[in-house]
Amino acid sequence: MKIVVISPTYNEKENIQKLIPHLENEIFPQIKNHDMWLLVADDKSPDGTAEVVRDYMKKYKKLELLMGNKEGLGAAYARAMQYAMKEMHAGAIVEFDADFQHDPKGIIDLVNAMEEGYDYVIGSRYIPGGQIPKEWGIHRKLMSFFGSLFARVVLLTFDIHDMTSGFKLTKTEFLEKVDLDHLLSKYYAYKIQILFEVVKLKAKVKEVPIIFYERKAGSSKISQKDLFDSFYVVVMLRLRESKNFVKFLVVGGVGFLINAITLAMLVENFHWHPAQANLVGAALAIFSNFNFNNIWTFKEHKSDSIFSYFIKLIQFYATSSFGVIFIQTGTIFLGTHLIGKDYYLIYFLVGTFFLLIWNFTIYNKIIWRKK
Ligand code: GDD
Ligand code: MN
Repeated sequence: MKIVVISPTYNEKENIQKLIPHLENEIFPQIKNHDMWLLVADDKSPDGTAEVVRDYMKKYKKLELLMGNKEGLGAAYARAMQYAMKEMHAGAIVEFDADFQHDPKGIIDLVNAMEEGYDYVIGSRYIPGGQIPKEWGIHRKLMSFFGSLFARVVLLTFDIHDMTSGFKLTKTEFLEKVDLDHLLSKYYAYKIQILFEVVKLKAKVKEVPIIFYERKAGSSKISQKDLFDSFYVVVMLRLRESKNFVKFLVVGGVGFLINAITLAMLVENFHWHPAQANLVGAALAIFSNFNFNNIWTFKEHKSDSIFSYFIKLIQFYATSSFGVIFIQTGTIFLGTHLIGKDYYLIYFLVGTFFLLIWNFTIYNKIIWRKK
């Protein structure tokens, strides 16, 4: 099979200088059953990355360069993937950073996994044997881990541990079915979307562990805005996927207001403890949520007799109570005790966010599950 390794570059002169001969001389020759090519997707790097590639092209025949304007990593990949499929007739594509944060030997592992019969192989930092840079600050570590967790929960891809890895192999029979011209993001978050679409197409997915090394030369192009962009992509994918989720959010919004108003009223006017006040607010919100969900969001699975209505209502209170008491009120309780009562509305917001994730999972899996 023809496999095209795509390496996007922006100001990676120093890295690409070492990377190309390393791949061509050390790595590709070890992969005997496949026709290995390298495609560098450069966005007119001012440091002259492209000149280095052009020089090497005289020496290495299975090396190509695709130039574009700098629009973002996702835009560069979309362009390069289309080129690899249409012009180079690739059977599989490997996404690979040019900055040596990915170990080139990992390419061999990805190809081996494909030979075992997998269609989409992820180089994963979050499975045993995988690793993120030890040098990363606690902030970046938490961000990366919780970002991945958030995407897994909202997109219901629990089985995948690394949602944003930049090192992976995709068979083009799947990639061809993804609309690369209209990706939601031109930046790093395109990865989350392609992953989601490929999983939806029922590709056989495998994660193989990778160590993500610290960058040694040049600098990272990822920024704060990529955090918001990723959040946007995850939420958009979910909304597109299920109308139920939109309804669920509207119903939850009403419940949220009932809960918040009751909470604030009891605390401000009647001087209740926020944790106690929240239990009352939540009990009212649960009642509202149940009835709206029953007649609207999950109406296809609605209870058809008064008996089943009460059974469902009790079930609903039971499962919701767990979330309300341990997740939402628990967060308020911890916050007020550890930090102080002044910010009780913030603990309420954080607790409610965790509750939302819990509830949607439970509603789908237990209460209104398909028969
Ligand atoms: N052509 C092009 N255009 N290349 C780009 C652009 C762009 O706009 N932005 C970045 N690149 C190239 C870089 O030159 C590098 O070779 C590769 O893409 C990865 O970019 P980095 O800027 O080094 O990304 P990172 O190390 O911060 O992020 C890594 O981890 C993320 C998850 O934590 C990457 O592997 C990401 O893909 C991954 O999502
Ligand atoms: Mn990097």
